[in-house]
Parts: sequence; structure tokens; C-alpha cells
Amino acid sequence: MARRKVIAGNWKMNMTPSQAKAFIEELYPCVKGKHGCDIVVCVPAINIPAVVKATAGTCIKVGAQNVHFAKSGAFTGEISADMLVDAGVKYVVIGHSERRQYFAETDETVNARTKAALDAGLKAIICVGELLSEREQGITEEVVAKQTKLALLDVTEEQMKNVIIAYEPVWAIGTGKTATAEQADEVCGFIRSVIAKKYGKAIANATAIQYGGSMNAKNAAELLAMPNIDGGLIGGASLKAPDFTVIVEAAQ
Ligand code: 13P
Repeated sequence: MARRKVIAGNWKMNMTPSQAKAFIEELYPCVKGKHGCDIVVCVPAINIPAVVKATAGTCIKVGAQNVHFAKSGAFTGEISADMLVDAGVKYVVIGHSERRQYFAETDETVNARTKAALDAGLKAIICVGELLSEREQGITEEVVAKQTKLALLDVTEEQMKNVIIAYEPVWAIGTGKTATAEQADEVCGFIRSVIAKKYGKAIANATAIQYGGSMNAKNAAELLAMPNIDGGLIGGASLKAPDFTVIVEAAQ
């Protein structure tokens, strides 16, 4: 069955609010009318108001890069799912490897954040992926299966409509080393089989599974042509409007 591709930029800690506004003004004319995929920009929290305003009435949807799992309370510096929704955010990246590596994110907190995001009606882009050492040991499948299953603990069939999995091999992030299209497709297909075991084939076939890790204007078409790759989560190349546009075009 045809799944809609999702092309999401993950800006990481880049761009000020005014740069973000200028970037959207540059990007929108380039991607306008390209309705063949969903287009998302996942921006630093402080940029959300500027980007929601700049994208109003356009085909560009806004995502956040993290969400706290509590409804509200004494969590200084954190942002809740309800706050994101009220601010106009539709998507949120959860469990990015940089958060796992630098901010003590665990499979348990990824699951808690996922449930909080889904309960609030956000679309959750859940990141999974193996380290280079894990690939070399031949345990890629064990690693991504565990991350996927734990992230989806207590996530209902109904909520799976709003789940996107991003397969991001950690060794390919920001390194210029892309997984080959075959390597990426193989793991995305494996993740789909993990989802199928828990939720059945229909839900697995309807779930978007993105690839992320040095996706760029040059390699996007080949990656996005693979049967199990339903879009991309793009870091560096999403910060350049012409490059991001080429990737959006490759997903049409
Ligand atoms: P790069 O595209 O810069 O490798 O980053 C990928 C990524 O981490 C997206 O979330």
C-alpha cells in the first residue's frame, strides 16, 4: 500500500528566531504546491512562535525536538506536550541519538515522552538506531528491535496513526557517511516487521518509517526510492533551503 512520505528537517540547535523566519520565507516559495509528501521543520523550542507564524497557511508543518513527559509541574526548563500543541506544533522528535548520548535519554523516557506526545494529539517521530560498534558486532537488529518495542510500550493501535519511526544509524549522523540505500531499507523493513508482530500487518504497512543520517540533495532520491523508506529526518541539509527542496522533490 502507498504510504505518504514525510520529509522532516531537524534543525538541531541552529538558527535564531529571526533567522528561522527568514529561512521559512526562502523555503516556502520553493516547496509551495509540492503536496506529494508531508513537509515538516523541527525547530528549537524558542523558534516555535516565529516559525508557526511564518508557516501559517502553508504546506510546511512545525515540529519540536523534544517534549517532557509530565502534564505540568516543577520541571524547570522543560516544555509539555500541551504547551507545544497550544503553540501550534504538530510533530515532535523523540529519543534522538544526541539526546540519548548527551542528555541521558533512555528507552524508558523515550516511551514516557512518546505517550505524553500521543495523548496530547502530537505526531511522534521516534528515533532509533545502532552505534557503529553495534553494527560491527552484528547486533543492529537486536538494538533497533529493543528501542522500537520499548518506545511503543502501551501505545495503542489507534495511537499508531500518529507514530513515525526514524531509523537513524548513529554512525551516519553528521558524519557524511550515509547508510547505503540497501542497508537503510533493510533495517527500515526490519523495524516494520517488529511493528507487524505487535500490531499486525495493516498497521505496520501504514506506519511511516523514515531514514536519517547524512541524507542530502545528492543521495535522497536513491534512499527515498526504496520500498521501506517513507521519508527522511534530515539534519545538516535541512538548513539549506535549496538542498531541502531537492529532498522534498525527491519524495514527490
Ligand atoms: P545529518 O543529516 O546532519 O546527518 O543529521 C541527521 C539527523 O540526526 C536528523 O535527526
